[in-house]
Amino acid sequence: MDIVICKDREQAAHMVAGLIDRAIRAKPDTVLGLATGATPILLYKDLIRRHRDEGLDFSRVRTWNLDEYVGLAPTHPASYRFFMNDQLFDHVNIDKANTHVPDGMASDFEAAAAAYEAGIAADGGIDIQVLGIGSDGHIGFNEPTTSLASRTHVQTLMLGTRLDNARLFFGGNLDEVPKRAITMGIGTVLESRTAILMAFGKGKAQAVAAMVEGAISHMTPATALQMHRDAKVFIDEEAASLLKNIDFYRAVYADSPLRALEA
Ligand code: PGA
Repeated sequence: MDIVICKDREQAAHMVAGLIDRAIRAKPDTVLGLATGATPILLYKDLIRRHRDEGLDFSRVRTWNLDEYVGLAPTHPASYRFFMNDQLFDHVNIDKANTHVPDGMASDFEAAAAAYEAGIAADGGIDIQVLGIGSDGHIGFNEPTTSLASRTHVQTLMLGTRLDNARLFFGGNLDEVPKRAITMGIGTVLESRTAILMAFGKGKAQAVAAMVEGAISHMTPATALQMHRDAKVFIDEEAASLLKNIDFYRAVYADSPLRALEA
């Protein structure tokens, strides 16, 4: 796991955008796994700027989002499809037909989940998976106790997750937050060629410490990334504040080619 402790979230967004930018220029039909929530917003702004000012071309890029709320239509302002259109897709030259978000309104979720997995496979698998982390250590909407081998499935959300998201995206109204979501599984995420997890702020410090330094456990789903072949973690000082071996991570980073992304 590469640990990059950034001076602030702007720098983290800049570096991750740089990594995605390089990937798309090298392979124009790059398959991106994308995330919603507060964490990737600056990343998407940076990608939009690179499209507008630096010719970053999304015309052949394909995307697969991690998750969607069960029961929210794509037109619902709190749906993750709406978020993705609003925060990224409407502002770059991506073909919407190449963008995928799980269907929160599916009549048969088992079939929808299987079709989602098959679609990712048909695209050749995910090159770069962008991830946030929940304060409970979830990735995607895979809550504690989800199988580390899980595939796309319907997941019941923990109260803490619903409270976090009520605050950010539902005007503080818990009753509005769906109780279930359809999410890529942890096994799905582990198959991506590169996984990039970003986390910012004190509220994520405990989950980040457990992910980086704790034992692999389904009680902290993000610990599964310890088994990922190429996981990179971009965090700010606050999210890094509970790491015990922080000096070591800084020393490793001092020699890392990832430093070039700071430019
Ligand atoms: P956030 O959510 O980016 O809104 O903090 C992250 C997550 O729950 O995975």
